[in-house]
Amino acid sequence: MRFPDSFLDEIRDRVPISAVIGQRVAWERKKTNASKGDWWACCPFHGEKTPSFHCEDRKGRYHCFGCGVSGDHFRFLTELDGMSFPEAVERIAEMAGVPMPARDPEAEKREEQRASLYDVMELATKFFEEKLQAAEGARARAYLRERGLTLATQREFRLGYAPESRNALKEFLAGKGVAKEQIEACGLVRHGPDIPVSYDWFRDRVMFPIPNSKGRIIAFGGRALSPDQPAKYMNSPDTELFHKGNVLYNFARARKAQGRDGTVIAVEGYMDVIALSQAGFGNAVAPLGTALTENQVELLWRMTGEPVLCFDGDQAGLRAAWRAADLILPAIQPGRTARFALLPEGQDPDDLVRASGPEAFRKVLEEALPLADLLWTRETQGGVFDTPERRAELEKRLRDLTGRIRDEAVRRHYNQAMRERAYEFFAPADRRGKWRQGGGERKGFRRETVHETPGLARWRQSRPADAPLKRERLIVALAANHPELLDEFHDVFERLALSGPEEQRLRAAVLHFLGEATEADKAELRAHILASDLGDYFGRIEYELVALGDWQVKPDADILDVRDAFLNILDLHNEFGLRNGNVENMQELWLRLIEEGDEETAERLMRAQTAETAGRHPPQAGDENTGRASGRKARN
Ligand code: UTP
Ligand code: MN
Repeated sequence: MRFPDSFLDEIRDRVPISAVIGQRVAWERKKTNASKGDWWACCPFHGEKTPSFHCEDRKGRYHCFGCGVSGDHFRFLTELDGMSFPEAVERIAEMAGVPMPARDPEAEKREEQRASLYDVMELATKFFEEKLQAAEGARARAYLRERGLTLATQREFRLGYAPESRNALKEFLAGKGVAKEQIEACGLVRHGPDIPVSYDWFRDRVMFPIPNSKGRIIAFGGRALSPDQPAKYMNSPDTELFHKGNVLYNFARARKAQGRDGTVIAVEGYMDVIALSQAGFGNAVAPLGTALTENQVELLWRMTGEPVLCFDGDQAGLRAAWRAADLILPAIQPGRTARFALLPEGQDPDDLVRASGPEAFRKVLEEALPLADLLWTRETQGGVFDTPERRAELEKRLRDLTGRIRDEAVRRHYNQAMRERAYEFFAPADRRGKWRQGGGERKGFRRETVHETPGLARWRQSRPADAPLKRERLIVALAANHPELLDEFHDVFERLALSGPEEQRLRAAVLHFLGEATEADKAELRAHILASDLGDYFGRIEYELVALGDWQVKPDADILDVRDAFLNILDLHNEFGLRNGNVENMQELWLRLIEEGDEETAERLMRAQTAETAGRHPPQAGDENTGRASGRKARN
């Protein structure tokens, strides 16, 4: 009979191991510290006169420094008393006062079936491995060589090849006596009522076997060899053995490697894990083609309190990072958090170690940001907090964010840290205000308030910054939520040049609705848009705009504020036109500011930020004196 792990854990937890061992040995008083659960005795497994046999209640384990035996409650009874495992379990359950679980024939049968499914997966793994070395594996071998994987690495990860055939694997397994139902239960064939003859799930793909936490193969990932295949990667379907969201690729090996390294890295793809391993980072894992799940984060935390989550240097990577941050925030605890690393633009870990070597990746890891820094950066980047309302809005957003942390102590510390940051953050703005008043007196920039690192710069830069488009969005969103604006600005709005197709559609929808609406219907405009096929899009931009500080978009904003904002943004739009030209490189400005700390750069940076947020191009060097830099030109 197999016992559920939870049952074994429970009885082991209830009975101090010293109570089990104490029935067979006499404790040595001097060395023992009973109140700490730290016990010493002469070893019952080998004869000795001075005690070198030790057990610890906290860990529930014994160890002899003389003869090397070690184990837990059950091991002690089976090894010393020669009990069978079920007998040992029964004895401990009795001591714990916990009834033995009832036999569950159904569960036992499932257990047996599972055991045989592992064997089938092992057979399939070997089949793929052999095919990679066979004649038909030539292209796959060339592919792996081209991607720089050594033979040793290929063997270590048990890479293989699924031949281009509808039944090669199926027939191989049938020849080994594997039943049709088992092949289907392993997810190795496509089958079903509408498929007359089942056929191999993976065809003409490089195969990546996916081991569970004990190293047994439970699924496969398969990569297409040619780029014109519709699915680059395909995974096994979920089966009895495999639940995508509960597995991390390379978990078992990473846990071991981590013993030496102290940390665990989560990356996005199989190839990243393998390339990193070959480059000396054996401690990398990856989810299986989905965004990181809560269960996977739990797995990471089982290995280390502070895994480094690594994201590709593209927009998808960045979105994945925000999502992961939101996912783990509620679950962080003392000693359970994560750091976030963003790869240089356009690269994944595999590209990076191949192009620039392990040192380059090590640097990326070193620059990883703590969760708190990441969230702070996200909430403030590009924002302008030049009015009490905007500051209050930011503070509220930060409070809402930290409010999601379930652990009370961590929540308090986060709150405090965010308040302190906000305080620091606003301080230089005030000082910059003084510089602007001129007076020639150099106040100097408090360098210690800006801890710019290349890692931070990457996060800051990586924002999808399409300022002109944002400006168009602000215009149409203001109009949609405040149609009374169009009493005054209807013609301007109608004739405005817009470059974004969705922005154009939204404007058309607004104009169309208002064209038919009575005065009383006007209040329905927003609801009408949200219910239309533009609803998702509108909901998103509305949220984004408000989150970035354009609170005037909100339907309940005071119309006088709204009108000011609308005029201002029309101004900028007319002045700076459609999507084109360069946005000044903000990172360069940040770095210069840190190096030189001069007020001219500080001012440029501030204007660049203001302009970007307001959705216009920043003034270029040299046009300070043209009058454009003030950002307000009379509108015709
Ligand atoms: P990527 O597209 O980043 O691929 O997908 P990659 O890992 O860099 O792969 P190579 O270098 O082109 O070979 C990351 C992960 O997302 C899953 C896979 O798990 C992949 O490793 N994925 C990707 C899929 O499940 N299906 C796909 O079609 C693509
Ligand atoms: Mn890749």
